[in-house]
Amino acid sequence: MKIRIAPSLLAADFARLADALAVAEKGGADLIHVDVMDGRFVPNLTIGPPVVRALRAATRLPLDVHLMIQEPERTLPEYLDAGADWISVHVEATHHLQRCLSQIRAGGARAGAAINPATPVTALSAAWQDLDYAVVMSVNPGWGGQPFLEPSLDKIRRLRDEALGAGARFPIEVDGGVDMGRAAALAQCGAEILVAGTAIYGAGDPAEAIGRLREAAEASVRV
Ligand code: DX5
Ligand code: ZN
Repeated sequence: MKIRIAPSLLAADFARLADALAVAEKGGADLIHVDVMDGRFVPNLTIGPPVVRALRAATRLPLDVHLMIQEPERTLPEYLDAGADWISVHVEATHHLQRCLSQIRAGGARAGAAINPATPVTALSAAWQDLDYAVVMSVNPGWGGQPFLEPSLDKIRRLRDEALGAGARFPIEVDGGVDMGRAAALAQCGAEILVAGTAIYGAGDPAEAIGRLREAAEASVRV
């Protein structure tokens, strides 16, 4: 199984984002995970469309923009226009999930839906056909560096099984507290995209950490 690694810039030095992109490219990352927080849906505040636009111009890697914002339908067009390649919205943040997902697809990006730890996987089932990926949050979003919530493993497995049972086929991304020690179990449960901030940018050699995460995950699902 091919595993994709998405370094989260939230754990990088915000004054040196170009260096963080370069190191991700050097390490063979597949995506760049960009955490957008609005100070409402989550207490923290991070970046917006102008920074996404600058990142888009500074790397060849696809930008996976994680919108932790209330009513994402209001500002989605700005992120599409800024060049986001993948965009996920939170099911808890909108009354109109399918509308958001089709807005994203219509804008030429891949459409994802994210669920918080307390949200059941059934919250996604009405939208199976509208999803290009699903994001299982393994921490309550808002900050990097939080400990992985163990029930997330079983949740990923259930999501994979339920989607397969419904004939839906989309990759599952896991976000929050992902580290070397959990990569294998996550891949075995069906996570195909691993987001990691602290485990990559907090490592002595971030480029090497990307390779090690991939190796640990892929070794566990090699047939
Ligand atoms: C949490 C963010 C995550 C976070 C992951 O609110 O959505 O993407 O940056 O960081 P780590 O890997 O440090 O938990
Ligand atoms: Zn994220």
